[in-house]
Amino acid sequence: MKNNYSIKVPLKNSPYEIIVGKNVIEKNKKKIFSAIKDAQKIFIITDTVIRKLHLKKIIKIIPKKIFVKTFVISSGEKMKDIKTINKLISFLLKNNVSRNDAIFAVGGGVIGDISGFLASITLRGVNLIHFPTTLLAQVDSSVGGKTGVNSSYGKNLIGTFYQPNLVICDTIFLSTLPKRELTAGYAEVIKYSIIYDKIFFNWLNKNSKGLLKLDNLKVIKTIKRSVEIKKEFVLKDEKDINNKRALLNFGHTFAHSLENCTKYSKILLHGEAVAIGICMACKLSHILGFLSLNNYFKIKNTFIKFELPFDLSFLKRINIKKKEIVKNMIYDKKNLKGKINFILCKDVGSAFVYNKIKKEFINKSIS
Ligand SMILES: NC(=O)c1ccc[n+]([C@@H]2O[C@H](COP(=O)([O-])OP(=O)(O)OC[C@H]3O[C@@H](n4cnc5c(N)ncnc54)[C@H](O)[C@@H]3O)[C@@H](O)[C@H]2O)c1
Repeated sequence: MKNNYSIKVPLKNSPYEIIVGKNVIEKNKKKIFSAIKDAQKIFIITDTVIRKLHLKKIIKIIPKKIFVKTFVISSGEKMKDIKTINKLISFLLKNNVSRNDAIFAVGGGVIGDISGFLASITLRGVNLIHFPTTLLAQVDSSVGGKTGVNSSYGKNLIGTFYQPNLVICDTIFLSTLPKRELTAGYAEVIKYSIIYDKIFFNWLNKNSKGLLKLDNLKVIKTIKRSVEIKKEFVLKDEKDINNKRALLNFGHTFAHSLENCTKYSKILLHGEAVAIGICMACKLSHILGFLSLNNYFKIKNTFIKFELPFDLSFLKRINIKKKEIVKNMIYDKKNLKGKINFILCKDVGSAFVYNKIKKEFINKSIS
């Protein structure tokens, strides 16, 4: 196992590189500034938690001649809305942002999604570098170009596709990540293995203890493999239009609905919602005769090994009605022609899109 990797995402109009490793920010200073070579101003977007813990690591690599301004958002999913975007646009315009300038997104998926959306709509596109600080952001949200914010009608309903100039996944950030946030990140990792890579799935099962204890080389390998898998799907379907990229949404139809039911609060983290959502999608796959009971339990046990939730018992303190969960699904972006578009699986390593499902089966899969 190596201690750092460079993964190229060769998209035709906007190729970029993802660097993965420990303490890679300073080492890649040249690469960072050549990716935004004409920038005279850098606007750092971060949250209250990251400002205290890690912001210095970024500030210290910025040459003195570059003007730097930081905008700090309160931490949490609730900030991921259009009101925050409005404030950020005013912040950039007030500081005379130009198209050559750059936004540095330093934070988890919330900061990444907000900053990506902001970068895409300000002056019709300014430079963007992601410094993802959670496992979930390193393996998922910083890669692939989906940006956006939530609406009262549902999650991520306002957004764009916008690729960054560079992504720096430094595992040094993960050392301060609360355990619950770390395990939530593994939900997306397990997702990649189920939809694409049986060998990776088995490796994750064998190495769950080391990964939960942040064994550095194992974590780096995990981020690298996850990013490679995500890249494969993004290259086939950058804008999510031909159902190839849709597999990345495995479990997310259920997950987004659950997050809406819990009002995007800390009661349920995105990764936890994904873990429960994948187990529900697997249960549905089993009910419809696609997935064997044995494989369903194998998948569920993987989430248990990674100390993740797998059903609604995790939310027993609040009373969520099945009816509400199903209703929310109708607003999900993955719906086509009024039908709910589900991602199901036949086996580990084999997922597919399916939308001919009767409501009674959906109801049965929610428990
Ligand atoms: N764009 C995409 O393709 C994509 C994919 C998956 C998820 N997402 C989005 O990502 C978001 C979830 O991201 P997340 O799980 O990173 O949540 P997050 O950004 O809310 O971060 C989780 C918490 O951890 C804190 N934190 C971040 N880094 C830390 C660190 N290094 N040390 C200590 N604390 C730290 C944050 O302040 C926050 O309180 C959701 O909004 C989801 O919709 C987007």
